[in-house]
Amino acid sequence: MPTQPAAPVDITATPAWKALSKHYAELQDQGISLKDWFAADPDRVAKLSFDTSDLHFDLSKNLVTDKTVELLLDLCRAAGVEERRDAMFAGEHINPTEDRAVFHTGLRRPADEKGKFIVDGADAVADVHEVLDKMYAFAERVRSGEWKGVTGKKIENVVSIGIGGSDLGPVMIYEALKANISGPACRFVSNIDPNDIAEKVKGLDPETTLMIVVSKTFTTLETITNAKMARWWLLDELRKAGAIAADGSQDADAIAKHFVAVSTNLELVADFGIDPVNAFGFWSWVGGRYSVDSAVGLALILAYGKETFQQLLAGFHAMDVYFQDTPLEENVIAIMAMINIWYNNFFEFETHAVLPYNQYLHRFAAYLQQLTMESNGKSVRWDGSPVTCGTGEIFWGEPGTNGQHAFYQLIHQGTKPVPADFIAFVNSANPIQCDGQDVHELFLGNFLAQTKALAFGKTADEVRAEGTEEWIVPARCFEGNRPTTSIFGKDLNAYSLGELIALYEHITFVEGVVWGIDSFDQWGVELGKQLAKQITPALHDDEALAAQDASTKALIEFYRANRK
Ligand code: F6P
Repeated sequence: MPTQPAAPVDITATPAWKALSKHYAELQDQGISLKDWFAADPDRVAKLSFDTSDLHFDLSKNLVTDKTVELLLDLCRAAGVEERRDAMFAGEHINPTEDRAVFHTGLRRPADEKGKFIVDGADAVADVHEVLDKMYAFAERVRSGEWKGVTGKKIENVVSIGIGGSDLGPVMIYEALKANISGPACRFVSNIDPNDIAEKVKGLDPETTLMIVVSKTFTTLETITNAKMARWWLLDELRKAGAIAADGSQDADAIAKHFVAVSTNLELVADFGIDPVNAFGFWSWVGGRYSVDSAVGLALILAYGKETFQQLLAGFHAMDVYFQDTPLEENVIAIMAMINIWYNNFFEFETHAVLPYNQYLHRFAAYLQQLTMESNGKSVRWDGSPVTCGTGEIFWGEPGTNGQHAFYQLIHQGTKPVPADFIAFVNSANPIQCDGQDVHELFLGNFLAQTKALAFGKTADEVRAEGTEEWIVPARCFEGNRPTTSIFGKDLNAYSLGELIALYEHITFVEGVVWGIDSFDQWGVELGKQLAKQITPALHDDEALAAQDASTKALIEFYRANRK
């Protein structure tokens, strides 16, 4: 049974919090003006710019002064972030409600660190590399055509079946690196809505399709149901095509050739009918939303190959080393996290946008939503006591420039300021000149223009000078002081993407420690799962219907009356 840990620091009772509250009030009195702050301090950009190995960060367009950053880092220290960071990097049990170690950083440690990290009594890095080697060998067999389907054909398509952390990471990275695909094409099935799998298997040849069932627990309703539907589809299609015997005698062989699994629960994998030889394990110390660089990313190795996955791991690891070794004053991860706390807890901004200026990152916001909101969307602290301030930033976003023509109006002129992270890359995977114009430059010009407009706005005098009628002037003004962070990479590739993901993992971690919450459990998803089991029978069973509340009952009656 997990034992109750000591209460975390009540961050709101610390002198550092009080100093920040005072500072916040002073800034409000003085008036916040990025324009003035830039004019007064020629070093502002230099002081608030940072570089990690492949990424450049400009934090100067945030609503912070030198003093703000200093006080925020005092708060970071007061929360014990450094001590807890070191505990995480050592693989200690810092997930108290589940009494689990947290050691996803071990997934990307190089092989020469074998023997250095004993987690739950085992050599974690050695275990990680044993599975990595098994994945690389398997992927090579599939990619080369040595691994064949039941009728002797090469695998051309992969369907990865999982949900949440067993889906969002792989699909996000698969999409992000698509410019360089070198192996089978992948499709991802997650939703229990049968429309998802129905659409994803359309047009696939079962003889050349490999299914990967990805589930940490191997009990998740969506994934197991989708896996069963996939098994049924595969066998049925093969039988209809006369590719396997109609009497079921070749079913086991077909499953062995077309299904592999990724899980921590290898017993349930075997019960499903997947040969444990074709199962890739991971460990309880890898949380689902922190698992994309474990065997959960198998589809990525199939699509992109071993070297790309190794680059991804190297990018993650570079950011881990940076986070652990860089003093807080220079540590962009800690500073970004603390600026988020500044906005969330002092300005009380309601949401946080993530706006990648790269179409390949179109699933990045969805990925981040699980990472940040499943980690930090909590009302109790790690000892069970209530939180003492607001937690859980609400992340959302879409790639630019699409968002510019949708919700940027609100970001520029709405009554609810939205701090935003802009993410862009110097080089395009598709450098195209059109009518003498470098299209990527057009794109980047938009990224730069948006952050500039948000920071510095447009005054009434500037609008008037354009000849605008007086009564329309207010509608065309931009107050500015809308905070943004610019993350500028050189190229979007596996390495920079690894860095980017680790950046947000660690930002999430720092925020969780400041709030005193367990960022690695997710009890908030349980009630809905339990109730779904209870309620589903009521859709057809009268006794179960009678047990429902009035609203649920009425909805089910509408369903029954209209079902075809
Ligand atoms: O329901 C939430 C959750 O438990 C996530 O934390 C997890 O990533 C997802 O479901 C999938 O879980 P599993 O990998 O065990 O199928």
